[in-house]
Amino acid sequence: MNPTGDSTVPDAGGRQAGQAGAPEHTIPAPAEIRVRPGDPLAGELEIGGAKNSVLKLLAATTLAEGRFTLRRVPRIADVTTMIDLLQSFGCRAGFGGDDVLVVEVPERLQPHASYDLVSRMRASIAVLGPLLARCGEAMVALPGGDDFGSRPIDMHLSALERLGVDIEVSHGYVHARASVLKGEEVSLAWPSVGATENIMMAATAAEGRTVIDNAAREPEIADLAAFLNRMGAEVLGAGSPTITINGGGPLAPVDHAPVPDRIETAVFLAAVGIAGGEITLRGAQPGHLRMLCDKLGEMNLRTSTIKGGLWAMAPHRLRATEIVTLPYPGVATDYQPLLVAMLSLAEGVGLVTENVFANRFRYVGELVRMGADVRVEGRCAIVRGQERLSGAPVRATDIRAGAALVAAGLGAEGETIVRDTHHISRGHEDLVGKLQALGADVEWVPGA
Ligand code: UD1
Repeated sequence: MNPTGDSTVPDAGGRQAGQAGAPEHTIPAPAEIRVRPGDPLAGELEIGGAKNSVLKLLAATTLAEGRFTLRRVPRIADVTTMIDLLQSFGCRAGFGGDDVLVVEVPERLQPHASYDLVSRMRASIAVLGPLLARCGEAMVALPGGDDFGSRPIDMHLSALERLGVDIEVSHGYVHARASVLKGEEVSLAWPSVGATENIMMAATAAEGRTVIDNAAREPEIADLAAFLNRMGAEVLGAGSPTITINGGGPLAPVDHAPVPDRIETAVFLAAVGIAGGEITLRGAQPGHLRMLCDKLGEMNLRTSTIKGGLWAMAPHRLRATEIVTLPYPGVATDYQPLLVAMLSLAEGVGLVTENVFANRFRYVGELVRMGADVRVEGRCAIVRGQERLSGAPVRATDIRAGAALVAAGLGAEGETIVRDTHHISRGHEDLVGKLQALGADVEWVPGA
């Protein structure tokens, strides 16, 4: 039985399979977001489950037959894509309540992730490890590049080869096969989040012990490990640079709520940083945001841990600082566009060094259209803060840059129209509604 007391699995839109009707947060394309400056922000809102965790947890459901329940799942397009992917393997999946997602995994899966689905969302590559573990084979389209550059998956593939997987890449697909997965020591050249997750999931079915050295330490990795352990796996040390997986045990479905979304939390911190004011983010996990909050403190944005969340207060104008992005526990690369937006309105000259993705400044041209003074030199952005930006039509170039442009609009005279909002809808649940709850002058408008 699902949480609604119904024995069927609803479809991705929250409807019972077979019923017509639009999903709740579907915005008619090509809708745009209009932002105007207004009063300082005030109020509180609830932070949802982390997109970057939920997607991997959904991939991990393929590891065991039966019925899984995930709670606090954001209604975003990337979750819909992952649901479509699971359905293409033969699973049944859909929302059974507001934020409760139910997945029913059959005994036999078709381990084939099509280019059509993988090209919609790069994170689809997360199914490679669990499909191999469950089926002994997988055919997954190569994700290709995106707005941050080429985004290779070489570390995923070479680590899986070490576990005994035969890999052939041809015609745009990864063809992977392993009659037996064998535990091994795997040393990553860089603490890749996606590679760490794929190895962890594959290793749950490997004979013996797998040790991942220089593993990623993001909170979403620890969340995936908690999920796998609840299923019956033995994953030790997640959250540290060395993760050990004792593989081979039986796995069973579970009920799990992911960690809160630290990037969504950062979006509202950026919004209050730009508009000024005082807000409370219920459900946020301050422990996952320490470095960011330290940096924001240097910029004069005060944050404080409160019972069940995070409180923040920003002055009329922030102060510039220097920021370097790094793997966790460093300042995340996903915060970078938000920080550049904040610095573009801060007092003084800010310097941002991007260490994780070579091309993650592609949105800067849009911010410059709004009057920001940002010069990009290689991996660095030099940001001369302006008293005010000037509203303009701009294009969201990716999920986080889109949110940053909306936040920047709060500090721009006149009207900012953010286009290509499908990027924003991929990763941010009801961004407009949540900003409105804080008193921001933001709304959906029909596309031009
Ligand atoms: C995940 C997050 C993304 C975040 C990123 C870094 C999801 C869905 N996405 O992406 O939001 O910005 O972590 O925190 O969780 N690399 C290689 N070879 C590989 C794998 C990665 O060269 O095989 C490089 C990448 O190009 C990049 C760096 O390593 O320069 C970090 O990538 P990685 O940590 O793997 O990021 P993702 O898992 O793709």
